[in-house]
This record gives sequence, C-alpha cells and structure tokens, in this order.
Amino acid sequence: MEKIKRLTVAETFKQHDALVGKKVDVKGWVRTRRGNKNVQFVALNDGSTINNLQIVFDLSRFSEDQLRAVTTGSSIHVQGTLVESQGKGQNVEVQADELEIYGTADPAEYPLQKKGHSLEFLREIAHLRPRTNTFGAVLRIRHALAYAVHKFFNDKGFYYFHTPLITASDCEGAGAMFQVTTLDLNDLPKGEDGKINYNEDFFGRQANLTVSGQLEGELGATALGCIYTFGPTFRAENSNTPRHLSEFWMIEPEMAFYEIEDNMDLAEEFIKYCINYALEHCADDIAFLEEHFDKELTSRLRFVVENEFVRLPYTEGIRILEESGKKFEFPVYWGVDLASEHERFLVEEHFKKPVILTDYPKEIKAFYMKLNEDGKTVRAMDVLFPKIGEIIGGSQREESFEKLNKRVEELGLTGMDWYMDTRRFGSVPHSGFGLGFERLVLFVTGMQNIRDVIPFPRYPKNCEF
Ligand code: 4AD
Ligand code: MG
Repeated sequence: MEKIKRLTVAETFKQHDALVGKKVDVKGWVRTRRGNKNVQFVALNDGSTINNLQIVFDLSRFSEDQLRAVTTGSSIHVQGTLVESQGKGQNVEVQADELEIYGTADPAEYPLQKKGHSLEFLREIAHLRPRTNTFGAVLRIRHALAYAVHKFFNDKGFYYFHTPLITASDCEGAGAMFQVTTLDLNDLPKGEDGKINYNEDFFGRQANLTVSGQLEGELGATALGCIYTFGPTFRAENSNTPRHLSEFWMIEPEMAFYEIEDNMDLAEEFIKYCINYALEHCADDIAFLEEHFDKELTSRLRFVVENEFVRLPYTEGIRILEESGKKFEFPVYWGVDLASEHERFLVEEHFKKPVILTDYPKEIKAFYMKLNEDGKTVRAMDVLFPKIGEIIGGSQREESFEKLNKRVEELGLTGMDWYMDTRRFGSVPHSGFGLGFERLVLFVTGMQNIRDVIPFPRYPKNCEF
C-alpha cells in the first residue's frame, strides 16, 4: 500500500468537508459486515468515536475470498476514496481500493457477536467488553470526567498532591482494610504473646492499602493552601451492592481557610462543572447511552446542573423522614446512620433535587470532623444524588489540638502523631471532601451498576484480569 497518513475515524468525520474526493487511510476493528453479491458494507470502529465509518467494498474489485476474514472483531487497514454517502445514517463513507487484514477473529469463537449481549454477560468477559459500543461510550466519558477534574482544580489554583497508597493509618476508622505484607502466611513469625511479629514484615510494622488520602492531604493543604488528590482507594468491606467497589478512585480536595459553607460551595460548583464538561464534550456517547439505557439521562443531567442543591441539617432530614409516613425497611430515629432508602427518599421523592445533608451526630462520623457548639453534632456534609445516594462525603476539620486529641483518645487511635502536628504547629480552619469517581461516572452515564463504569472492577470474590 501507498504511504498515506492514517486518520482516526473521529478525524475523518470531523474533516470530511476537506477530505471528500480524496484518498484516505483508516484502520480499525470490524463491527459488522453485510451486503449482497455486488457490494459489501463494513462498519469500522477504531475507538476514537462511537460512530462507525462505513467502508464499501465493490465486489467487482474484491473477491469473496479476499473478504472472507473480514468478520466481526477482525482488524483491518483500508485505503480508498472518501465519498458522500448514499445511505442514511452517515454523511461520508470510504469506497475501498485496498485492504490489509491485521488480525482475524473466528466467528465461531469471538464472543462479541453483533449485538444483544446483557451487561451481566459482558462482565464475565470484561477483558473484551471495551470493544462494545456501550463500554466504548462509558470509557470515553470516564476519560473526559477525569480530565475535567484536573482542569477544574488546576484552573482554580489547586495543586495535585500525591498521597501514598500503602499506609499504616486508617483514615475513616471503618476497619475494612486490605493488609499489605510480604510475610509467609504459612509460617508467620510470632512473639511470646502468640501475636504476629510485624517487626519482621517488609515495612517493620503492619501496613495496609489506603482507604483515603485525606490525612496526608491535610498535610498538603496546611502547606500549599489548596490541594486535591485523585487516585485509587481500597476498601475491604463485604458490600455486594451496585454502588460499592473494593478498588475505586477518589478525588479529595483539601483547603486551608475554608469553612463548611465554602466547602459546600466548592463541592456543588465542582460536580456541576464535571457534568457540564461531559454534556459539552461527550454528546455522541451520552446520546447513545440515553437511547439504549436511560431515556431521561440528558434531562436528569441538565436538571442537576441548572438547580441549586438543597442544604439541610441532618436533624431536619430525620424529622422529614419521620413525618413522611413512609414504611422504610430500616428504622429512622435521631442518631441513625441513614440507609440508602432514606437518602433516596429525601432526594428523589421529597425535594426532587440533590441534597447536601450537614451536621450529623458525631458518633456516626469520622474522628477528624469539627465539633459543633451543641457538642453532639459535627460539621459534616454528604452530597446525596438521585439514583446514586451519597456521591460526596466531607467536612470541616477539627482544628483545635485539644478537641481533636480528646476524640483520638476516646476512640483509642494510635500512631497519629504526624497527623496531630498539623494542629500542633500553625493550625488553621480547613475543610475538604471526597468524591467517589465511579459514582460520578455512574451518574453521568446513567448506568445501573458501578461494576460497569470501571474497566476492571474489583469486588468480593472477583479479581480476574
Ligand atoms: O464518605 P467517604 O468514606 O469519605 C472519605 O473517605 C473522606 N476521607 C473524604 C474526605 O473528606 N476527604 O468516601 C467518600 C466518597 C463517598 O461519598 C462515595 O462517593 C465514595 O467515596 N465511596 C465509594 N465508591 C465506591 N465504592 C466504595 N466502596 C465507596 N466507598 C466510598
Ligand atoms: Mg461517607
């Protein structure tokens, strides 16, 4: 074949005015082939866009034999002339002159035949599902959202701060951590008390995968002012729900001199920015997901962007739930940790808007949250979303060394000296929050299950690929 600069399918569509009548060079995977004795049509996709480029093979120039291996899933290289399309559904197509086959995909074995695979089936072949329209759309949107996160914070003057994945601390105190060790589990070194001697472990102490970068993030914020983290976090809780993963990505901004109100303003602005970014830059992918999975997707996204979130103290929320007359599966009373059904009632039925719930009882929240004057509640804020429930969790932090130290002692936390130094030296009011990245992707794509918005999901009893 002649040497011509290869164009992606997205570029070909974008520049079609200039390219019509010219020779083009395209490469990709065959989605479908159909046609008759005179002409064969191939839908070519290279991942650059959800839209397929139609390649037309005139059978006076290509033999059936040459096209035999051009089947769903095979990879090909085509040169030909870009022409205005006769058929509906696409504006241009390629009239093929030359064909090179890179890799065949035996139709008897290739698992992704034309269409109609359930999401459950695709989860079993997660190594191939990025090749489907659905996962192509989801993964492009995921990318756009990740880019939007960095752009939002960079443009605001926040610094991207890298916190460790291996740590010895437990930020959330949930006690659901994966241990990191190089000890031989079949032959553990034990002390005289019969307990494992971690001095002999790799780090000379017990270590685990992080559940949150917040504590280290606070060290960043009390030096650089405003920082954010964006990385994987790990939770070993046995939650088999459509909203939990064992490995998920979290974005955690942390800001010196921010009070809880500033924190809420930032959270609301940030989420709206990300959703707007996707609406602007992922229109084709969102339209595809809307058509196939969720007819109300765009209107729901626009609704969230265009409306102010409700801000409501926990105590008020409990009162609304108690007075609703609704039969909940889990009981409602002051002090209870809200279940997903309670959160969704407030958001989907009562306010019909995202809700930022604040001032939770201190007992159900993490040790680092700032105590209110009532001595019972803390300056926490959870952002609750339709269909998702909690999408953000955050708070103003306790900046008083005495109050924080009292809480640390009450809860029996150890090894926190390095963290307490933020309060010992130049302590300032500060706040932050954590956004679960997959929950955001779930919301923006309209998918139902969090396992379908990350390429290789990790959940209990599943660690393939
Ligand atoms: O509410 P969480 O546990 O808060 C923290 O970790 C704080 N340190 C954040 C901070 O203030 N810097 O988690 C934050 C968010 C949740 O709101 C949720 O969106 C997501 O992380 N999340 C999960 N996402 C997927 N799977 C899981 N198992 C998740 N657990 C939490
Ligand atoms: Mg939370």
